[in-house]
Amino acid sequence: MRMTQPLTETIGARLRAAGAVARAQDLYEGAGTDFYERLVGGDPVEIREVLALARTTGDPILDLAAGSGRLTIPLVRSGRRVTALDSSSDMLSRLRRALPDHPLLDGVVADMRSFALGRVFPLIVLGATSITLLDRAGRARLYAAVQGHLAAGGVFALTVAGGASATELSSPQDREITVPGPDGAQTYLFSQQIEDGGSTRLVNWVRVADVAPHAEVTVLTSRLRLLDAHHLARELVDAGFVTPAITAVRAHPGVDILLLATTWPDAPRRGGPDVRG
Ligand SMILES: C[S@@+](CC[C@H](N)C(=O)[O-])C[C@H]1O[C@@H](n2cnc3c(N)ncnc32)[C@H](O)[C@@H]1O
Repeated sequence: MRMTQPLTETIGARLRAAGAVARAQDLYEGAGTDFYERLVGGDPVEIREVLALARTTGDPILDLAAGSGRLTIPLVRSGRRVTALDSSSDMLSRLRRALPDHPLLDGVVADMRSFALGRVFPLIVLGATSITLLDRAGRARLYAAVQGHLAAGGVFALTVAGGASATELSSPQDREITVPGPDGAQTYLFSQQIEDGGSTRLVNWVRVADVAPHAEVTVLTSRLRLLDAHHLARELVDAGFVTPAITAVRAHPGVDILLLATTWPDAPRRGGPDVRG
């Protein structure tokens, strides 16, 4: 198996030049979870669309890669029973702290490529473009696991970047960003490196104030695939799903997110949105 480098060339060079030592940290573990929360936790994108879909389906809802609950929390607060599945116990701990002992919440630490929950769901959601966390083999396993957990007539909905957002994700970037925090905003270096012939992006974040001679500097890191909606639609059909309906998610200006909603063809429909295109 090919070893993958978690640091972009820019971040590696920057830390070497400063005489600092890198400590790579997965974005969704340990200190990464706090950063993710600060960066994305308050983003309302997709919530409206997921709540609208949920109004047309029954319970329980399966939120895959649920993380700290950006989508799970509004679903539970709207009275829906949700199973929140995530491979990171650190991310799920944040969700449990936000909804302590909530009777409508079931948190499950599991891999979305290979889960067996022993029940089926009228709605399975994979938001925040988290499908891009998986390579082709991982996506094939995810589709099989979803199929095994979809109730008759159930809907599988996932999101992916489109338009200007997809273009931005596919070009190398090195820039400073401001991230809000409880003690005020902090400046981070954001570095995005395109790899594997343009199919993957390696992303790093480093707090500027941490970069100092001899310092051990936390480098938050994640590796994601560059996927477009039509490619995913073809994969879903090849995996046996109905051709997904693709609709735009309401987002901030300049941000293009697409929602793919599909179902399993032989299942009799029991109401719900018409996702058959
Ligand atoms: C972009 S975050 C999305 C969190 C949340 N759904 C949201 O909307 O903010 C991606 C999540 O996927 C989780 N994750 C990564 N790989 C996973 C896998 N193979 N199985 C389950 N969860 C995974 C991470 O731990 C993280 O919480």
